[in-house]
Parts: sequence; structure tokens; C-alpha cells
Amino acid sequence: MAQHRSSQWYGGSDRNAYIHRAWMRRGLPSHAFDGRPHIAIANTASDLTPCNMHLNEIAESVKQGVYEAGGIPLNLPVVSLGETLVRPTAMLWRNMAAMATEELLRANPIDGVVLLGGCDKTIPALLMAAASVDLPAVVIPGGPMLTGTFRGVPLGCGTDVWKLSEEVRGGELSNEQFLRSESSMIRSKGHCNTMGTASTMGLVAEALGTVLPGLAGTPAPDSRLIEGSHETGRLVVDLVNEQRRPSTFLTKGSFHNAIVALAAIGGSTNAVVHLLAIAGRLGVPLTLDDFDVTGSGVPLLVDLQPAGRFLMEDFHRAGGLLAVLREVSDLLDPDALTVTGRPLVSYLDDAPIWDPEVIRKRDSPLLSDAGIAVLHGDLAPDGAVIKPAAASPELLTHRGRAVVFDTVEDLHARIDDPDLDVDARSVLVLRGCGPKGYPGMPEVANMPLPTKLLQQGVRDMVRICDGRMSGTAYGTVVLHVAPEAAAGGPLALVRTGDYVVLDVPNRRLDIDVPPAEFAARAPNATTVAGFAAPRRGWEQLYVRHVMQADTGADLDFLVGSSGDEVSRESH
Ligand code: FES
Repeated sequence: MAQHRSSQWYGGSDRNAYIHRAWMRRGLPSHAFDGRPHIAIANTASDLTPCNMHLNEIAESVKQGVYEAGGIPLNLPVVSLGETLVRPTAMLWRNMAAMATEELLRANPIDGVVLLGGCDKTIPALLMAAASVDLPAVVIPGGPMLTGTFRGVPLGCGTDVWKLSEEVRGGELSNEQFLRSESSMIRSKGHCNTMGTASTMGLVAEALGTVLPGLAGTPAPDSRLIEGSHETGRLVVDLVNEQRRPSTFLTKGSFHNAIVALAAIGGSTNAVVHLLAIAGRLGVPLTLDDFDVTGSGVPLLVDLQPAGRFLMEDFHRAGGLLAVLREVSDLLDPDALTVTGRPLVSYLDDAPIWDPEVIRKRDSPLLSDAGIAVLHGDLAPDGAVIKPAAASPELLTHRGRAVVFDTVEDLHARIDDPDLDVDARSVLVLRGCGPKGYPGMPEVANMPLPTKLLQQGVRDMVRICDGRMSGTAYGTVVLHVAPEAAAGGPLALVRTGDYVVLDVPNRRLDIDVPPAEFAARAPNATTVAGFAAPRRGWEQLYVRHVMQADTGADLDFLVGSSGDEVSRESH
């Protein structure tokens, strides 16, 4: 049997090997230390991450698969982030979760790892960690929940919360009816069932090659997820034996395939920052513009909320990711490999579409061009993104008067002020919401529309923000503006009344103010004051070191790989 990394701890007859083995004997027999692979199950199960609560069950199936293949499975609880609960935003903690997981993987006597994630930030953080420590690793996405219904109508969790709350604000739904939908929203274990960030990241992780092909998107309560988890347990032992590390198969071609998938499924814009961060850990030269170049011309084939009609349970029934990828197989990199050692494209021969309403054929797409558009211009020198598929087509080219909000609190205080000077053509600008400014880059870019405009029937407006947008949200929203206002970006110079020009076909975001006059302005004082607020602990470290959205909003000192070596013993 080949010498594995864990043998550095357990092999031999000296005092340290004795200590390492002795303390692990609570449950492990002698032959556990005979050189067989030790597999960590990096487990984000937590009662405070409701979308991941079921991952302990998944871990049990993984364990059986690992044992069956001759390995030793070890549950490793890691930092977990629940999108709906964690304040001030789970994104503030993504890099912390990634850093802590990386260090735990490196510090412990393990040879490979199965990454159990689900809720939005968990899969990105786990993949960032695995990429940096570069141990053989495979992801199991925890899967979406089943579809809940309210008054006989399916509910898209997340998306329908936004929709129903807007209906209350618009006077079309009573608050009592709204609250009655609450217990119907979350039908089962699993993450959000729309094509939000969690669904997107599970599918994108598979397109990247880090998931057992065909598994992502399997609903959390589906017995096929248990079966696939068992199979993944067997697979990770193979990965260790073959030393198939992330660095050996994740290439620019893998990210190309992930971007094609992201466009074809109409996935969340959050995948842009996460993929950039993961690529940064691997040293893969991925840029923001790659999302536009690679994604342009990719058809939107999946009719899922928030942009469409169906939900993840329908998606899985209709054939899932492989059926989508089969339709765009000519756009994929044929050489990009998966964790199994086989190319992604080799899994597409037997991947039929079972319901062409949910997953469209290539010749009848929902949109012929579904890619995320990357904008540049006066207001976004380093880039900004917009998801045209979730926007109103008539607003993709627009010139309107800015109504500026300096903070989220400012937005909430004034958006419903009857005296707010705003109309349907106005452009809502929200700053102070980038990685440094908030801090943590929250999902606030999909600003609520002013109630008085909702009551007039307005359902979308151009909105611009240096923060992010929930993957379950929709609208003509320009987000991830870089550099952000707090980092000296020109968004800090915009004033209410300036004319903003959005031109998505030409990928521009500009301001109609004479350049010299614009450049001579002082940055907004509230934004600067917020950024300069005293901080301690993680938040201080984060604000000092976080990079901008166009490079993935990772910490500058976490970029790249540092491998699995630990040269010193603790005793
Ligand atoms: Fe966890 Fe939506 S809140 S995936």
C-alpha cells in the first residue's frame, strides 16, 4: 500500500506516533493505522444553517462508501454559514470559513476530503479551502428542498418572499395572507429550490468537475442523493490512491465549462465572485471579462425561478445539469476533466431531456444569449456585472436621473418617503455596500422599489450598487461595481440628479457629467466615514485585506495555494 500523508502521523513506533494512534483508538481499530487513506468529511451541518441540517445523514452514507473502499472516514465539522440568519452578511465570513477549513485540513492527519455544503457560501468556501490545501477533494452538494405550495401554487423560496412582500407593499396582498405563506415556503430539508446561489453553486461545482457527475441538483430528500454520497465515499479513496488533487485537473478549461453552465442554467451572479476566488486559489488566470466572453452566445435553456417558472425539483426530474450540458456540448472544453478522471463531456452521451418545458432544447432556448454581461465605464473602471436574463429588456439601454443612497440604512429610511424625488425613469444608486464599505458585500443591490411607484404599477427600475444581489432576486440591477465607493471608486462621487447612462449592449456604465467636474468632486463623506469606522477581530482583518469584487473578494494573503505540508510536530 502506498505511503499516505496520514502515515506521517500514525506510522512508526516512536512516542509521537504512539500519541497520535492512542488518542484515535476511541473507535478506530489497529488496522486503521496500517497505511490506509484517512478521509475527512468537511461537514457544514449546523442547526443554525437550516439548509445544511441534513448533512449529517449524508456524512453517514459517505462513511459507508469510504469504509467499503478501504479508507477511514472522519467527520470534521467546519465553519457553517446560514444565509438567512448570519449577520451582517454571510459573505463577510466566507473567507473566514475558507481559511479555517484550509488550516484544519492541513493541520490534521488526512489524505483526502469530501466537502459537504449547500447553503450559498458553504460550497464556495469549501472549494476555496480545498484548492489552497490541494488535497484530493470532492464535493457533495446537499441538494435543494422539495417544492412547497401555497393556495395550490408552487412557492419558490427566496424569490416568492421578494415577490409576495412587494405585493404587500403594492397593496395587492394582505399582510395576513403573506404571513400565512410562511409555513409553506420551506417544505423539506435542503437549500433554496430556485436557481439561486446554492443551486447555482452546486451545479457549477459539478460543471467545474468537482462533483460526481450527475449528482448536483438531486433534491436533499431524494434517495439518489444517499446513493451518490455512498458512491462519492468510494470515489474519494480512489482520488487519494491516484493522487488526483485539485491542481491536477482544475484548469482554465474547467472554469470555461463552469461559465458555460452558469449561463445555460441562468445561474446566480454570485457565482462570478465565487468562481474568481476559487480560480485565484488555484492560480488559474480567470478574469471578470471571461464571464462575458465565454458566456456570450450561450443560450438560456432552463426555465427556473427567479427568471422563469419552475423549481429545482422540476429541474432534476427534467434531466438535470447533464441534460443541459448535452445541449451545449459543442461550447464545452472537451479536455476538462472531472474528479473521476474522465472528461466532463464523456458523461453527456446518455443525458436526455425528459421535460422540454423545464429544460429547453438548443433550438428553442428561452434566450439566445444568457451570459452575464460585464460592464465598464466611468462608474465601473474595474467592471460591474448585470444578468440580462433577470432584467427588463427595455431597461438594458437607459438614461436616467440618479437617486443616491449612501448606506443601506439611508435607503430604508428614505425609499418610501412620499416626498422622495423619484420616478419610474430614475436610476437608484446604492453605495457603501462593497466588500470594504459594508463590510462584507451584502445582497442588497436589488433595492426595493419606492412604494409610490409600485402603486403606480412600476415593477422594475435600473438599480446600481457596489454590493451583491441574492441569486433568488431579479430586476435590472447592476452590481459588484468595482472599485467600490469605499475603496475610492467613482460611485462615491455620484450625486442625486446626475444622469447615469446604462448601455448593456455596448457593455457601458457611464455618468453624464463633464469628466473634469466629476473628477474634482470629493468622495461622499458618509461613505468614507463608514469605511473608517473602528473595527476589531476578523472584521478588521477582512477590511484591511479584502480585494474587490472583480477579483473574487478574497483576502489578498489567501490567494494561491500553500499545499498540504506541515513540517513541525506539536509535541
Ligand atoms: Fe440557504 Fe437559500 S437560504 S440556500
